[in-house]
Amino acid sequence: MVCHEFEKFTHMRLRIINIVGARPNLPKIAPLMREMQRHPEIEPILVHTGQHYDEALSDIFFRQMGIPTPHVNLEVGSGSHAAQTAEVLKRVEPVLIDRQPDLVLVVGDVNSTIAVSLAAVKLGISVAHVEAGLRSFDRSMPEEINRILTDALADYLFVTEEDAIQHLLKEGRPRESIYLVGNVMIDSLRHFLPLAQKSAIGEQLALKNDAAWQRFAVLTLHRPSNVDSTEKLAELLGAIDSIAAQVPVIFPVHPRTQQRLAQAGIKTHPQLKLIPPIGYLDFLCLLSKATLVLTDSGGIQEETTALGVPCLTLRENTERPITISEGTNQLIGTDPARIVAAAHDILAGKGKPGRIPPLWDGHAAERIVDVLLKNPPLGLHRKSTLPVT
Ligand code: UD1
Repeated sequence: MVCHEFEKFTHMRLRIINIVGARPNLPKIAPLMREMQRHPEIEPILVHTGQHYDEALSDIFFRQMGIPTPHVNLEVGSGSHAAQTAEVLKRVEPVLIDRQPDLVLVVGDVNSTIAVSLAAVKLGISVAHVEAGLRSFDRSMPEEINRILTDALADYLFVTEEDAIQHLLKEGRPRESIYLVGNVMIDSLRHFLPLAQKSAIGEQLALKNDAAWQRFAVLTLHRPSNVDSTEKLAELLGAIDSIAAQVPVIFPVHPRTQQRLAQAGIKTHPQLKLIPPIGYLDFLCLLSKATLVLTDSGGIQEETTALGVPCLTLRENTERPITISEGTNQLIGTDPARIVAAAHDILAGKGKPGRIPPLWDGHAAERIVDVLLKNPPLGLHRKSTLPVT
């Protein structure tokens, strides 16, 4: 009897396969998994494509953020764009057929995001895209292609900012599939900030004496357009050297950038401290205490806006314009003189003030789950999923 009841119950659950592939996906999926696990009506399954596989780019994030161990790891590893995307497509298809989810939920804009979405829709499975509608209008960015294609396929388009709604409407996506829900990455930031403040990274990097932090900057660089050419990378690090002459600059180096640096043999200022990639809590601690952040990442533009920390984005465009119109971000480009001048202003206390965008309040995952429960996929893949009313 109990067994029968349980079976009936499990058949009524909305089975959702959640996808992670690369590092930036992890702070986005963490609050969604937490929220789904609070709802007995949902059966959340986690699949890791293995696009990122290192301890420092993947495992440490699972541990620190309490993300459950994935039910499946596709172990696709690194490769060219075509090879990596194709490998995810091939390897995820049998998992989708075997697990028969009602919905596949993807986040962000990495190769795993588009690959899994494509495999799912071809099997008639609904797709939800979290962080939909962001556009840099720069098709030389691999992520821009992934964003456009994923949004063309997804049935649920969860957006972080108003501009994204307009982009999706212009691309012909139906208004009723678009939901402004806030920012799941900021859910993680708010949830983990108190814990991150206890990190010992300040002492380890000699940025802190007793309770007092000294002024410092944080740098991240990994976009192919900035790091794949030795000349470009040397030019950018030349500008950073001038900033490092004023304050220590902490630079956790992404493996892609590390490979280029090793090949190029570029020498840097002693106050530019190159360190291996660090975990989420240490990084969040550094971001929250920094005087200035310089980055070409998408997510860090949002995190600095949420923290009210000045950010210089070393790119010619951004898919996250709200961090500029409302937040602390400035799109500064890659001209060394502009970077040095803008950093100088911030260090002189003339940073751009900002405010936190609407709905970046730590509750985006709750809103997403609420939408999914109130509007379950129409063409339910598993006919028995929801009770007939
Ligand atoms: C990927 C995403 C990018 C995201 C970034 C965050 C795409 C198209 N790009 O770029 O959007 O901002 O992740 O990190 O999906 N490597 C390791 N260990 C790993 C993974 C990779 O050492 O765990 C090395 C490999 O040599 C690989 C290189 O890093 O060739 C680049 O990794 P890859 O996943 O191809 O792209 P990312 O630059 O990380």
